[in-house]
Amino acid sequence: MVRALDGVDLDVWSGEMVAIVGPSGSGKTTLINLLSCLDAPDAGTLTVAGRGVTDLGEEALTEVRRGRIGFVFQKFHLLPALTVAENVELPQLFLRQSIDRAHTLEVLRTVGLEQRAAHLPRELSGGQMQRVAVARALITRPAILIADEPTGNLDRANGEALFALFRRLIDRDGLAVVVTTHNFHLAEQADRIITLEDGRIIRQEQRRRIGTGNVTGD
Ligand SMILES: Nc1ncnc2c1ncn2[C@@H]1O[C@H](COP(=O)(O)OP(=O)(O)OP(=O)(O)O)[C@@H](O)[C@H]1O
Ligand SMILES: [Mg+2]
Repeated sequence: MVRALDGVDLDVWSGEMVAIVGPSGSGKTTLINLLSCLDAPDAGTLTVAGRGVTDLGEEALTEVRRGRIGFVFQKFHLLPALTVAENVELPQLFLRQSIDRAHTLEVLRTVGLEQRAAHLPRELSGGQMQRVAVARALITRPAILIADEPTGNLDRANGEALFALFRRLIDRDGLAVVVTTHNFHLAEQADRIITLEDGRIIRQEQRRRIGTGNVTGD
């Protein structure tokens, strides 16, 4: 059996950006998937926004995942036939929430793309596409944003712009952001850097002390 993670203990606080770094195969995506409730741990507990999720059934887990957690992926995963606004509203469609275009435009304004609401993804740059993906992640007002290599397909300037956007959201909304990256320069913008190696946390560097409420716990 491969032990992808071993004895990892992690709390994430609202208003905090946590960067997870480490070599390829060290367990970053595995850890992110656990935090995302996409995988269940063999042992241990997981709490999201004060709610124990370790023993929840698949349906309840899906609800937590969609309602409390926003996801950003390396490859954006926008639907090419939908407009920017429709892409952003997709999670609400899944959650059967009422769609409010004014709210959508407000979220798009947050990521600087209000003017692009009616455009198709192919009419955008990579950096813009990733900001649409961030807007899509924010539309359900999540407590935590989880991003696995979100700058992996971006150039340096767009990568930095994305991290600056994360920081604005953290300061404005008290969002928690957990982000994996291979880019140490970007990781240094986080409040805490966690280094994984062979499925273990080998180093935790607290760069800025903050935190008001527990979002996820071991
Ligand atoms: N579905 C799976 N089944 C079995 N082993 C897996 C599975 N997914 C990942 N692993 C193993 O778990 C370990 C951690 O993999 P993980 O994908 O979390 O690494 P990572 O740090 O995200 O790497 P990268 O930087 O390349 O994305 C590796 O040894 C990997 O081979
Ligand atoms: Mg990975």
